[in-house]
Amino acid sequence: MTMNDRINQILASLDELQVQHEQDIEDLRVRMLGKKGEVTKLFEDFRTILPEQKKEFGQKLNALKNTVQEKIDALHDSINEGEDAAVPSFDLTKPGDKMDLGGRHPISITREEIISIFKKFGYSVAEGPEIEDDWHVFGALNFPPEHPARDMQDTFFIEPDGPDPVLLRTHTSSVQVRTMEKMDLPVRVICPGRVFRNEAISARAHCIFHQVEGLYIDKNVSFADLKQAILLFAKEMFGEGTQIRMRPSYFPFTEPSAEVDVSCNICKGKGCNICKGTGWLEILGCGMVDPNVLEASGIDSKVYSGFAFGMGIERIAMLKWQVKDLRHYFENDVRFLKEFDTVI
Ligand code: DAH
Repeated sequence: MTMNDRINQILASLDELQVQHEQDIEDLRVRMLGKKGEVTKLFEDFRTILPEQKKEFGQKLNALKNTVQEKIDALHDSINEGEDAAVPSFDLTKPGDKMDLGGRHPISITREEIISIFKKFGYSVAEGPEIEDDWHVFGALNFPPEHPARDMQDTFFIEPDGPDPVLLRTHTSSVQVRTMEKMDLPVRVICPGRVFRNEAISARAHCIFHQVEGLYIDKNVSFADLKQAILLFAKEMFGEGTQIRMRPSYFPFTEPSAEVDVSCNICKGKGCNICKGTGWLEILGCGMVDPNVLEASGIDSKVYSGFAFGMGIERIAMLKWQVKDLRHYFENDVRFLKEFDTVI
């Protein structure tokens, strides 16, 4: 076959060409312009033709190469256009999809509410580290060396050995100690934060939870002041008609100590399944700061006295919204979280 015939044959095959996919175009490129392609071969053969034919065929071959390249480009364009046409056209006048806004977590809502109530009473907010030492969690708070809370079974230790072991704080009472160490008296603070205990997870217990600690130290602070502060808090948190009762209790860091119940806000004290028929719900522990605790932080217990209290945020939130299982707070199931969308 003469070179002329071969050129014409290629041109004719280009006209008849049908492609559907990008791969077909790539195959064409390789077949024509690839190392062993038909056009490439013609260029190789060109070296052997007679000198007087060179000009004519040189032009023809260059034109052929351009035509093939143009054909490939045109095929690319047509396939891409086809793709564009396949995209469904949108109705730009349609209203957009509703964006779901996140809501605040019930624990955050409750924490903020507790803080804002105590701020009204003149308390400021203090924070401390979650990784603590034995002194701030236990020692300075009058826990005896053999106290069970100092056991691996109850507390997560990071460095259990040495004179002052490092651990995850088991309560926010540690921030009391840090506050007494560094703040000028009188002090009136609340300390919200996360605490950790070596507990099996169940509907009523978790190894991570949140507390708010309160501390007030001044001259002549009395148990009556404590009772008043807690009563005012309970009324703000659970409603004006709320009553409190104090039961004698024991904590190493307070003397005397009490546990506080509020009248059940569901049955208004008549007795229901939330309050287990008693009419009362326990909300916190409190007491007068033990003189040993004041002295451990360098405060003269003959001049100053104070009260402290501590409550679990999860517990307060459970009572406020009748959440029956503590695990809901950590699972972050949106169906649960959505229930709090309208709060605040
Ligand atoms: N720290 C106690 C706990 O985690 C709660 C507590 C009780 C804090 C009595 C206090 C208090 O400040 O006076 O169970």
